[in-house]
Amino acid sequence: MINVIGLGYIGLPTALMLASHGVEVIGTDYNQTLVETLNRGQTTFSEEGLEQLFADALAGGVRFTTEYQSTEVYIVSVPTPYDEVSKKIDPCYVVAAVEKILTICPEDAVIVIESTVSPGTIDRFIRPLCEGRQVSLVHAPERIIPGNMVYELEHNSRTIGADSPAVGERIRRIYSSFCKGEIVVTDIKTAEMTKVIENTYRAVNIAFANELAKLCYYENMDVEEIRRICNMHPRVNILAPGPGVGGHCIPVDPWFLVGDYPEHTPLIAKAMEINEKMPDYIFKRICAMMEERGITDLSRVGLYGLTYKEDVDDVRESPTLQLLSRHPLPFRVYDPMVSRELVKGQYTDYTAFLDAVDLVVVMVGHSHIRANEAALDGKWIFDTRNVLKNAATYKL
Ligand SMILES: NC(=O)c1ccc[n+]([C@@H]2O[C@H](COP(=O)([O-])OP(=O)(O)OC[C@H]3O[C@@H](n4cnc5c(N)ncnc54)[C@H](O)[C@@H]3O)[C@@H](O)[C@H]2O)c1
Repeated sequence: MINVIGLGYIGLPTALMLASHGVEVIGTDYNQTLVETLNRGQTTFSEEGLEQLFADALAGGVRFTTEYQSTEVYIVSVPTPYDEVSKKIDPCYVVAAVEKILTICPEDAVIVIESTVSPGTIDRFIRPLCEGRQVSLVHAPERIIPGNMVYELEHNSRTIGADSPAVGERIRRIYSSFCKGEIVVTDIKTAEMTKVIENTYRAVNIAFANELAKLCYYENMDVEEIRRICNMHPRVNILAPGPGVGGHCIPVDPWFLVGDYPEHTPLIAKAMEINEKMPDYIFKRICAMMEERGITDLSRVGLYGLTYKEDVDDVRESPTLQLLSRHPLPFRVYDPMVSRELVKGQYTDYTAFLDAVDLVVVMVGHSHIRANEAALDGKWIFDTRNVLKNAATYKL
């Protein structure tokens, strides 16, 4: 049996995927409300294919509880934030989960850390907890992207870091129950480094695209046309610029490296700073547009999108929330994916939102706005995501 610890965006689909592929799974989360919701047969976030996967997993016997189980394999997928001052990883959730596991697990148990951790975290913070115990540690980081999680869980390749090939092989067999991608077995520190580097690569390349967008705006040039042409070069692939970077990974994980290796990461630190400042740049651009169009009342400006990416309901670290926290002004806000009230001035009705504003700032390129472009007629539009075909008055 496998006990999955932490049933959030990563732990839940992983538990469901295993259970729907014949593995006996119990999911544990210390959030009682979340466990009760799952036990009522409801999923806790929306994601393409998750409902069906949930049904399959229930048929496969998956169970949910707040209690840790005594079993031979654990998969830990709890949060790994960073310390905002030191920029280093804050391993407190992983440490707490492993400490709890150690009070209950049998000898020879394998503890798989799926949470993203900085290189050396398992040696520094987890291994000492296991001294004198016959348990094995494994790192199996996750690569899936919200919005396409179920597909990617099955089809992405994966990395497994273990102390011995035998333990690596044992865990590889468990993941291969559902994973059709290649599963590479390596050592723990290499697995830790690869995961953080993958997200750092994305962060640095997004920062480059954001810098390019600002440069093109300064020169009154179209960044999308520049990208289109440059990307025809066989070895160039410039990413899309945007209003900032959100989610639980790209705005977080690269900081682990800056915190641990400040002397070796000036490029990464600068990239993170560029991405973090994008919501402020958007705010400056909004102010310039208001002046140009004679809009004097900020409540006539509507921010479309609260999530950190299109077509998901995850709002963590989203550029819109970053903008609103640094500029707490009376903007109107609407997101078709978010019905719970999160910020002041939030609407749940799209027509009422549009009626209330003159300038719409597209912060997230949900399918909803792409399918309803005509409704924007008569508004000034700032399309920070370059998703609209015709309606944009301003682009990044
Ligand atoms: N969300 C993503 O897109 C994504 C992608 C790849 C990797 N990751 C990594 O996966 C890890 C988990 O991220 P997430 O997005 O699933 O987080 P999350 O916040 O959605 O879920 C974490 C869950 O863990 C529970 N929890 C925390 N401490 C616990 C404990 N000691 N015992 C039991 N339950 C506990 C919380 O109640 C929560 O439900 C992080 O390290 C993250 O960086 C996330």
